Amino acid sequence: MPENPPAGITRTELLGRPTVWRVSDLGVTQTPHDYPADLLGEILAKAIAIKESAAEKRHLNLRYIRGAHQHIPEVAELVHHPGRLAALSELAGVRLEPYPISVISTTITFMGASAEDGTVDWHADGVPVTEIIPLAMEDVEGGELTVFRGNYEEGMARLADGEEFTPAELAVFPHRVGHRTVAQLMRVLHRTAPMTRGYRVSLNLNLRSAERPYVDDNPLYYLAADNPTFDWVDEYLDDVRQRQLPAYLAAQEGDERR
Ligand SMILES: [Fe+2]
Repeated sequence: MPENPPAGITRTELLGRPTVWRVSDLGVTQTPHDYPADLLGEILAKAIAIKESAAEKRHLNLRYIRGAHQHIPEVAELVHHPGRLAALSELAGVRLEPYPISVISTTITFMGASAEDGTVDWHADGVPVTEIIPLAMEDVEGGELTVFRGNYEEGMARLADGEEFTPAELAVFPHRVGHRTVAQLMRVLHRTAPMTRGYRVSLNLNLRSAERPYVDDNPLYYLAADNPTFDWVDEYLDDVRQRQLPAYLAAQEGDERR
């Protein structure tokens, strides 16, 4: 599939320079979605019902339900919603597939003004591509997706020095119910702005390139910070063995022939 720049801001525009470690030039896009309201409503109701028992905060001040599709079967239904992958692939300009590692494949995040929920700190994503679908937004002030428009290393070093970014250095994307945000935030410094009021519940469906599944930034320690039981390691290694390594070796061979 040719690499078409999607609508919205491309990765090159966002970062001010091209990068190599990427699935395509997808940056951040926001479009209305056509997901059935009753399906989303069911997911929200179940998420709220299991929040206390299933949503934990371990890393980066992010409270979320891991492996959401394992708790809520309707999430898996949405992952396989007819036409979804084709539409997302079109948007990204590359063929995408669901991210396979179950603990991080689908998540439900709870963000809010309360300390119990909070919002996620500055970080870069481990997964290549994410689709964020707000399920509920109540009386929200703050909580926008905020991206540093520069080099990840430089941005982190400046934060470590106690610096704050200027508004011109940031790209800000408010969330809206009925709209999805599709973003490639691997090696892109971003956070959710603190919420001063209200709360948001979001469904996050993660994706990767079908042809280059090794383009990924989820090392074992990063996944383990959120999932310290390590019960996902066999799944991870099987994926490296069966999908990532063969695709990587095939790409290397292709490069050598050129
Ligand atoms: Fe993120």
